Amino acid sequence: MGFPVERPRRLRRTPALRRLVAETRLHPAGLVLPLFVREGLAEPAAISSLPGVVQHSRDSLRAAAAEAAYLGLGGVMLFAVPAARDAVGSAASDPDGILNLAVADVRAEVGDSLVVMADLCLDEFTDHGHCGVLDKDGGVDNDATLVRYAEMAMALADAGADVVGTSGMMDGQVGVVRSALDEVSAQHVLVLAYAAKYASALYGPFREAVDSQLQGDRRTYQQDPANLREALRELRLDVEEGADMVMVKPASLYLDVLREVAGLVDVPVAAYQVSGEYAMVEAAAERGWIDRDRAIAESITSIHRAGADVVLTYWAAEVARWIAEGR
Ligand code: PBG
Repeated sequence: MGFPVERPRRLRRTPALRRLVAETRLHPAGLVLPLFVREGLAEPAAISSLPGVVQHSRDSLRAAAAEAAYLGLGGVMLFAVPAARDAVGSAASDPDGILNLAVADVRAEVGDSLVVMADLCLDEFTDHGHCGVLDKDGGVDNDATLVRYAEMAMALADAGADVVGTSGMMDGQVGVVRSALDEVSAQHVLVLAYAAKYASALYGPFREAVDSQLQGDRRTYQQDPANLREALRELRLDVEEGADMVMVKPASLYLDVLREVAGLVDVPVAAYQVSGEYAMVEAAAERGWIDRDRAIAESITSIHRAGADVVLTYWAAEVARWIAEGR
């Protein structure tokens, strides 16, 4: 027998062979598109730090959701920018608040053809931009915030959300939200727990997308990027409290965390490719420094390969179109 005996390159010789033996495949059903809606807009508005992503009007949001359904995406994740904010984020739990209206709009538009997810957090609704209500010293009051999350969960269930994404990183939030949902006979509504949500610089462009009022940072509630064991503790607590799905966020810089999480749990695992991950590729591509489409496909494939069943990405619709075209 000649040398080398094993020739792995044989499997890579033609595109057809490579396609046959791919261990990870992109499919629209595994992708979730985050969408922004802004109260009072008549036309969609561009977000300069997220080229290609917009703040929707209520009408254009419906159209975007219909397109997502047409493309066969797994779901949409809704974020809303209210016209008025206050200390406790009142609009978040108001049935006529923009997020609740948007959930009802999207539900009416797509029926059950798409999973309708909503962000369950107060930061878009508070005038200080934190993910909770503040105590007298300006810190985020965990237990007072849980009361608001419970109210918000009930409102979102009432509006027709399939899934609520508990992204606030308060202790006990999954348990409180589960109880609140059950109390209003919304046993069918799923809790997508942000088990590991890191205090990341990569949320920068999102802050423009939701016109964030935040001064300072979220390091007293979001996790330290240095820690993995802490993520596993958050994961255990969220699963014990009743999480139906768990998420790791951001995705690309935390693939090790994702891998660990995926190996431990028996619920579906999601990962959020956040605004900064999107913006870095778009910016480099705009300068001609990177092959945009290849970088997008590679990044999402890698997130799946690391263990995510579901990927939230601002490129979801575009990637679904590529797949439909056979690219
Ligand atoms: C909180 C929330 C944030 C993101 C999703 N949910 C912002 C934050 O935690 O500061 C960021 C998503 C992104 O950057 O794409 N409501």
